[in-house]
Amino acid sequence: MPAVLSTSVCRLVVLISGRGSNMQAIVNTVRDHALPAQICAVIANKAEAGGLAWARDRGLPVHAVAHRDYANRVEFDTALANVIDIHQPDYVLLAGFMRVLTPSFVERFNGRLINIHPSLLPAFPGLHTHQQALAMGVQWHGCTVHFVTPVLDHGPIIAQGIVPVIADDTPETLAGRVLQVEHKVYSNVVRWLAEGRISLNSMQRVQVQGIASRSFVLTPGGVQPYQR
Ligand code: GRF
Repeated sequence: MPAVLSTSVCRLVVLISGRGSNMQAIVNTVRDHALPAQICAVIANKAEAGGLAWARDRGLPVHAVAHRDYANRVEFDTALANVIDIHQPDYVLLAGFMRVLTPSFVERFNGRLINIHPSLLPAFPGLHTHQQALAMGVQWHGCTVHFVTPVLDHGPIIAQGIVPVIADDTPETLAGRVLQVEHKVYSNVVRWLAEGRISLNSMQRVQVQGIASRSFVLTPGGVQPYQR
């Protein structure tokens, strides 16, 4: 893989709603690999989000912008965007952020707003993806990291991770397997963003430089890049 393409520090804001295990994987990756990135803030739409306490304990700037404090989505999204803008991020990472964002919010951060969804998009957008996968009988399930567009759980795909569905899976066992690939896929995407390897062109297509594989697979030995 070629040397790092970007020498400036990539400023990241992470949005969460709950325990924040994807956010934790991202924070740990930035630290453990000394990536040219800075987690400028972790923001939750619920003050009680477990991930907020985890981030605060590690000295990261945190904010709670509680959606319940706002009359409607537009007012909430405006308040959220104003807090994000304080930190001047290069990218805003939705990591288990469970609020639908308004088109004007998405437009404001176009090309800089990234989401992880626990399915192989375009299959199973929305909630309860693991139940949907089991009900449909798919043999492979997984996760997708993508640029956000105004359409829910839709947008140019940066990377995907796949896991096998096994005969006696429950939504919970399947979710646990998918979460393993989520952490790996999102961590790798953050590394690529920090190194300046990914962008969105004017045709809204993902451009990559120096990335051998953007697909990952859960194997008995752990999550591995899938080499074609
Ligand atoms: C993850 O599966 C995420 O993709 C989904 O909700 C879950 C949140 O996990 N939207 P965490 O908060 O990152 O632990």
